[in-house]
Order: sequence, then C-alpha cells, then structure tokens
Amino acid sequence: MSVVTVEVGLGERAYDILIGPGLIGRGGELIHKRLPKARAAVVTDENVAAAHLEPLVESLSAAGNAPAVITLPAGEKTKSFASLETVVDQIIAARLERGDAVIALGGGVIGDLTGFAAGIVRRGMHFVQMPTSLLAQVDSSVGGKTGINSPRGKNLIGVFHQPRLVLADTAALDTLPLREFRAGYAEVAKYGLIDRPDFFSWLENNWQEVFSGGPARIEAIAQSCRAKADVVARDEFETGDRALLNLGHTFGHALEAATAYDGARLVHGEGVAIGMALAHRFSARLNLASPDDAARVEAHLRAVGLPWRMADIPGALPDAEALFGYITQDKKVSRGALTFILTRGIGQSFIAKDVPASEVVSFLKENRQE
Ligand SMILES: NC(=O)c1ccc[n+]([C@@H]2O[C@H](COP(=O)([O-])OP(=O)(O)OC[C@H]3O[C@@H](n4cnc5c(N)ncnc54)[C@H](O)[C@@H]3O)[C@@H](O)[C@H]2O)c1
Repeated sequence: MSVVTVEVGLGERAYDILIGPGLIGRGGELIHKRLPKARAAVVTDENVAAAHLEPLVESLSAAGNAPAVITLPAGEKTKSFASLETVVDQIIAARLERGDAVIALGGGVIGDLTGFAAGIVRRGMHFVQMPTSLLAQVDSSVGGKTGINSPRGKNLIGVFHQPRLVLADTAALDTLPLREFRAGYAEVAKYGLIDRPDFFSWLENNWQEVFSGGPARIEAIAQSCRAKADVVARDEFETGDRALLNLGHTFGHALEAATAYDGARLVHGEGVAIGMALAHRFSARLNLASPDDAARVEAHLRAVGLPWRMADIPGALPDAEALFGYITQDKKVSRGALTFILTRGIGQSFIAKDVPASEVVSFLKENRQE
C-alpha cells in the first residue's frame, strides 16, 4: 500500500503528514532526510513501547542516530507537570541541542506532552509526531496544539508548537484496543459533519473497511488530516474558524467532567460522539436542522458501536443544572447566552453565538435519561 502525503500549509512552518503502513520502521530514514544533522530523543508510553518502540530505535540507529528513550506510564494522568519535568530533564541530560529532534511515539497524551517539552526546552527544539492512536493520527498530531492538564482543568497549560514532520503509521493501529479505535473514529466522523457531507456519506458506506484496515483506512485518515490541515492553515491560533473543530466538544467535555474523567465510564472520543449527536439534536430542537439529520448521525454512531446518547454512559449522571454547570466551567455565559457549534444539516456546522442558556438547560433535562 502506498504512502499518502498531506501538506499543512503554514508558510515557513509548513510540514508534511505521511500516512501509510510501515512508517515507524522507516522513521530513521524519513527524519534524517528532513533533519540531517539532528540527534534525537524518543518519548513514548509503556503500552506503545511494548508494541512499537523497537523498530523505531533500530531504524534511527541504522541512520546513525541512536536515540535517548523516555518511557512514561500510559494514560491521561501523564499529561502533568511531574511528567513534563521528567521529559525536560531527560532531554537536557541527553545533551540535546535546539537543532536536535524530540520524537513523540504514542497517542494524544504523549504527543501533547512531548510537543510542549519540545516547545520549551532551549526555547524550542524540532518536534516530530509519530501518532499511534487513531485519535492522534487524525487530530491531535496535526495543528501544533501542545500541553498538559492542570488539576483545575484539561489542557490549560501549553504552547502552540508545530511539528516538523508527522509520520502516521496506519499499521500501528492494528494493536490499538477496539474501544480506543472507535473513540478516534468519532473525530473522523466529525470532519464529515463539520463541512464534508460527501465524506460522511462515504464513511456510512465504508466504515467497516476503515476498521479492518486496507486502503479505506488510509483514505479516511488522509481525508481527516486534509480537513484539519485546511482549518489550521486558515486559523492557526484559533481566533475564528478553528473553533468548528470543537463540534460535539461542549457537551462532550461536560460529560467527561461529570464522569470525573473516569476512562472506564467515558473516554474523550466517546464524549465527542455523544456530544455530536446532542449538537445535532439540539440544532433540530432550535429548528435549525431536520430531526432526520440528527437521526442519521445517531444511526451511524450506533452502527460503529459508539455511544450516542447520555443514557449510554454507565452509572448515574448529575442532574441537568449540574451538567449545565460543567458546560459553563468550559465556556463563559455572556448575558444569558453561550457560543456553541451548531448545524443546519449534515456537513453544515457553524459557530452559533447567542445560544440561550435556558434552551440548553431544557434540552439537557429532556435528554439526560433518554
Ligand atoms: N493537541 C490537540 O490538538 C489534541 C486534539 C485532540 C485530543 N488531544 C488530546 O489527546 C489525548 C487523547 O489521545 P488518545 O486518545 O490518543 O489517548 P492516549 O494517548 O491515552 O492513548 C489511548 C490509549 O491507547 C494506547 N495506545 C496508543 N497507541 C497504541 C497502539 N498503537 N497500540 C496499543 N496501544 C496504544 C495508549 O497507551 C493509551 O492507553 C487527550 O489528552 C486530549 O486532550 C489533543
């Protein structure tokens, strides 16, 4: 299977995303081509190290660049100040310079943490993303948002630091647990729902092959990266359009917070899936979109095995007012109104300012237990 290249057009900070099988084992050669003089450190987590570290270290060593390796525990808790300190310290201990490269081999947790470390050590080192989860391949490895969590909330500390190269090895996804694959798929479907209705229809017909591997998987990842790259090139620092990427995230983040970020109950992509279904239903309730479109979104999420309504979350949820409280922790309410990503139909999302808070609360009441 061939490798697809997607360019992120950011002028002098432009970079390529390479998508295809076997790229981890070619990491040494591909990085050397772009950064010939750079030495390297690889940051990864224990799960990914067990499955994918060896071919990368071998290939870097074969290219004359035996890396320092930093392996951290897997999971969201690793996006912390304590881990940042470890990574920064190990990069400095390995005597890497500004012109050297820090490589993230892992999911979004490792990518976000490593990118932040690369952005601040020696005021910014080269950064290479080697995403190994579907979510990281289609979303977090593209666009340069890096960071860690604060005990007061997710992703509150970080910098924009674009990678020099992204290598998305689609065969690495074969070892990803099915639940994590599905969670990443929610972000794939999101790009169709934002502004690519034909892509959403294509996914409805081809999702099985995206899950099983083969050319449709590469195609879905490439389409997703193109969609994200377009938005990032238009609005790198999220002053406008980039907010569309948050479709489903307002409800999703509130549900993640309401379940205390307990991955056994809800992982991020599952929150986004429910959030997207709710955003479509809410748009129908406001007479912006047809209820048929909301039903179509729900049917697709259900078909792939993703949760699509709040009742799919195991355990009790807080009441509607408390859920609304979580939404307003994430967003400010100005004169009784909020900004939301809503839709006029499949692939017709838009940034809605002035959404009445009272409508959101009534909607949550109607949908909490259904
Ligand atoms: N920077 C951004 O723009 C952006 C965008 C979206 C999400 N994020 C962040 O991404 C994070 C979520 O990313 P994630 O879902 O990849 O989580 P993750 O990094 O925790 O990975 C999920 C799980 O899969 C395991 N894993 C990853 N690749 C594997 C593989 N190939 N084989 C076996 N196991 C593998 C990991 O060890 C982990 O247990 C969150 O912290 C979120 O805030 C960032």
